[in-house]
Amino acid sequence: MLRAMRILTGIQPSGTLHIGNYFGAMKPAIGLQDEGEAFIFIADYHSMTTVRDPEALRANVREVAIDLLACGLDPQKVVFFRQSDVPEVNELAWILSTVCPLSLLEKCHSYKDKVARGISPSHALFAYPVLMAADILLYDAARVPVGKDQKQHLEVTRDLAGKVNDAYGEGTLVVPEPVIRDEVAVVPGLDGQKMSKSYNNGLPMFGAEKASKKLIMRIVTDSTPVEDPKPVDGSLILPLFRLFADDAAYRAMVEDHQRGGVGYGDFKKRLAEAYWDYFAPMRARREELMADSGHVDEVLARGAGQARNEAARVVGRVRRAVGLA
Ligand code: ADP
Ligand code: TRP
Repeated sequence: MLRAMRILTGIQPSGTLHIGNYFGAMKPAIGLQDEGEAFIFIADYHSMTTVRDPEALRANVREVAIDLLACGLDPQKVVFFRQSDVPEVNELAWILSTVCPLSLLEKCHSYKDKVARGISPSHALFAYPVLMAADILLYDAARVPVGKDQKQHLEVTRDLAGKVNDAYGEGTLVVPEPVIRDEVAVVPGLDGQKMSKSYNNGLPMFGAEKASKKLIMRIVTDSTPVEDPKPVDGSLILPLFRLFADDAAYRAMVEDHQRGGVGYGDFKKRLAEAYWDYFAPMRARREELMADSGHVDEVLARGAGQARNEAARVVGRVRRAVGLA
């Protein structure tokens, strides 16, 4: 019998998430649980390339685990785990690094981009794509859905798997297919640039009610008088409202723009309400999870066990192929 398609993706625990992270990364990752046999992990080894504070690392891992569960990740359907709970990944990363030409890593944009943004140029930051390849190859993943920014890392992964297979025999590693999510639109920030934690223009997924309203009220608009029609193109309110509103509510807002007679304050109020309602069930679930820390630990421990079983199988195969066993 054909084994269900194995899909894998990782999410970096980078602190409080904004709605851009939700629509661009978290929601599509959670959607995988209905597409095949999904492995979703929290990439905590990776985030050590940027986070040096142990308390912050622990808190970030916990927060992203709770947020994923609150947003519908179902640990009955998904193998959900923390990267560092499967230390075998380091062994595979080492083996991959022995076949990885330096020139392959020198070509990677993300290293240069991160250094340009002031992140310290450590060996780990440079070798990050090798660890990411190990994340994927350790579980015989067939498909890896990621955003465009990760495309090059998947090419490195396929390249390294091919090199291992050439050197040690076909079938030593499964060469995965990338699935690049081109269709995920970039969520604009409150100032019109891409929403990003580095630009301080984000709307948090789980902000407090008053503070979130205040942020929404800060959205930049033009000075069209209330009675006049308002431009639809270039509006920052409409694309954000689109994320939360149903079709009828969205159409009504477009028409109110075109007709005139409704002010930006009113549109922002509708946006604030839609945002608040959209996350309401997730917010409630999140409160419950925060009050029950044992549950989150249990979920991650179970996921770690499942992931380690699989990792042991693959690492055993690779060890035999390369001559370590
Ligand atoms: P940030 O720009 O806030 O630092 P990251 O680079 O840590 O965000 O991105 C984490 C994930 O969230 C990535 O998969 C990225 O594609 C997604 N993401 C971040 N910002 C947005 C956005 N504005 N719109 C859509 N997806 C986004
Ligand atoms: N590098 C990815 C990011 O920054 C996270 C990640 C780590 C990942 N390992 C992975 C994604 C393996 C997919 C598969 O978003």
